[in-house]
Formats: sequence, structure tokens, C-alpha cells
Amino acid sequence: MNITIVGPGAIGSLWAIKLLKAGHNVSLWSRSSETATDLSLDEQTSLSFSNNNIEKLSASDLVIVTVKAWQVKEATTPLLQYLDPDTILMFMHNGMGAVDEIATQIDAHPVVLATTTQAAFKPDRNSASHTGLGQTQLGAFNLQGQQCTFLVDVLEHALPTVNWNPEIKTALWTKLAINCAINPLTGLEQVKNGDLSEPRFSKTLAAIIEELTHVMQAEGISCSFDELETNVNKVIQATAKNNSSMKQDMFYQRKTEIDFITGHLIKTALKHQIEVPTNQKLFAMVKERENSWNHQD
Ligand SMILES: NC(=O)c1ccc[n+]([C@@H]2O[C@H](COP(=O)([O-])OP(=O)(O)OC[C@H]3O[C@@H](n4cnc5c(N)ncnc54)[C@H](OP(=O)(O)O)[C@@H]3O)[C@@H](O)[C@H]2O)c1
Repeated sequence: MNITIVGPGAIGSLWAIKLLKAGHNVSLWSRSSETATDLSLDEQTSLSFSNNNIEKLSASDLVIVTVKAWQVKEATTPLLQYLDPDTILMFMHNGMGAVDEIATQIDAHPVVLATTTQAAFKPDRNSASHTGLGQTQLGAFNLQGQQCTFLVDVLEHALPTVNWNPEIKTALWTKLAINCAINPLTGLEQVKNGDLSEPRFSKTLAAIIEELTHVMQAEGISCSFDELETNVNKVIQATAKNNSSMKQDMFYQRKTEIDFITGHLIKTALKHQIEVPTNQKLFAMVKERENSWNHQD
């Protein structure tokens, strides 16, 4: 397939290299002005990609957008004028609500949402590390997207495991719930995920999960407090030594994805007139910290 990766950061570079190695024609679309980019994965021989080539973009069968949630609109909308309506758009990022913001503009395309637990790190412009094996779930965002189940084979061949989830909304909410529980607390307190199992966090975690349960149930997601709590605790244990992305973003004073994580929960709660004071307080604290920095990128 002709594939363009928009936003070749850590996750985008990982997929670009894996898809190229699987035999696809892969090009990149980045914010850099270079026309070719070399990328290497885990210190293997570097591979060359064309970058910001409009002809290649226009010829794409599949465009995978791997920017952060708050960058989706700005990265995607200028590219739409070059794409055929048949081009499949796939969005792979944490959080929810970013694709909804551009839903009307992308409606002509088959649109697929992806959520992944693969982990990657980009130490410099030309190299990436695959730091953790995980699972990628795909699901349709719109009616045309439902015809794209074949993408499971395409992606699975490049970087297993990949599944099609007809209930992608449930998968995204489940991931959002884990992010709402882990990210703001680890970011604000600058602690590792495993530190959240300390008793000093238990009351706040329980309150976050309680609020999440009400909102998710109102959204028609079948879940219970006990189920969500077990899930969150499992992830805290399994990723005990990890630094969450929000912890890192806050450490380096970068804009976080809070608007599309806890922010999405709060917006949805408002729609259902559900009170979520604990999540609101954490959201306000992260925003206050973000606003105290001079730069926003
Ligand atoms: N890294 C992981 O292990 C991992 C795992 C699971 C999920 N995720 C999620 O995946 C998403 C991406 O994460 P990441 O770690 O790969 O972030 P990242 O390294 O910051 O990658 C984002 C890339 O998008 C580029 N970009 C931003 N705006 C753009 C634009 N307008 N046009 C073209 N490119 C643009 C950035 O370019 P610059 O270099 O110019 O800033 C950067 O290279 C996030 O939602 C994250 O939460 C990440």
C-alpha cells in the first residue's frame, strides 16, 4: 500500500519503519522542511523516507496520523485538499474527542480509530526505540470505516498484535479511564505509575474511578466500579516502573494531552449532567501548571 505517516514522532516512526520493512511504500509528513528523512529503529541500519512530498501524499491509500491529540486538527486539515475521498484516514493517539472536532471535514473518507499499547521513544530526530510490546486495536469511526477490517492484516504483518474491535468506543473509554486515573496524578506528583499503589493515593483514585463509572455508564459503556478499579490497579502494577507521558510532558514543561483525557471526561459528564469534582480539580491543577509555563509546545 502507499502509506503516509503524519507526525513521525515516537509512535509514528515505529510504524513507519515497521510498515516499510513489511513491504509498503511509506512516506512521512512532518513539521520539518527536509524532503528526505533517515530513520533507524533500535540502532539497526537506517532507512530513508521521503518527507512532505505532495505527490506521495496524494497517492496515499492510507494516511496514519500519529500526532498528539491536541495536534490532530492542525496537522490533518491542511492535508485534506490533497487527498482522494477514497484515502483511508487512521488516527492513532491517546485521549478522545480530537477526531470529533474535525468529523465534518473528514466525513467523505473512510475513517479508522486506533489505540495502541505499543511503546516507543524517539531519542533524536533520526532514531526511534521500540520500548515495549503491546496490542493495537482498530475500529471504525464512520460507516465507510467499517469496510476497512482488512487493515488488521496490513498492520498485524508489520507490528503484531492487531485486532479489529467493533466496539472501539468501549476500548477507547477503557483506555481513557486508565489515563484519567494515572496521568494527572503521576504528572502533578512527578511519581512513577507504581507509586500510585501507595495508600496516600487510594482515596483520590477511588473518587476518580467512581466518577468515571457514572459517566461511562451514561455513555452506554457497560462497566462497574469494581471492574474499572481492578483494571486501573492491574495497569499500575504492570507499568509500575514507567513514567507516564503526562509525567514526562510536565517535567519538560510541554503541553499535555489533559484536554483530551480528563477534559473529555468532564465534557461528557456535563452533557449528562453528572458531577465529577475530583476529575475537575485534577484538570484545573494540570491546566494551572501548564499555564504557568511561558511556552506551549
Ligand atoms: N510514545 C509512546 O510510547 C506512545 C504509546 C501509546 C500511545 N501514544 C500516543 O501516541 C500519540 C503520539 O505520541 P508520541 O509519543 O509519538 O508523540 P511525539 O513523539 O511527540 O510525536 C508526535 C509527532 O507529531 C509531530 N507533529 C506535531 N504537529 C504536527 C503537524 N502539524 N504536522 C506534522 N507533524 C506534526 C511532532 O513533530 P515535532 O517533532 O515537530 O514536535 C512529533 O514528531 C500521543 O497521543 C501519545 O499519547 C504514545
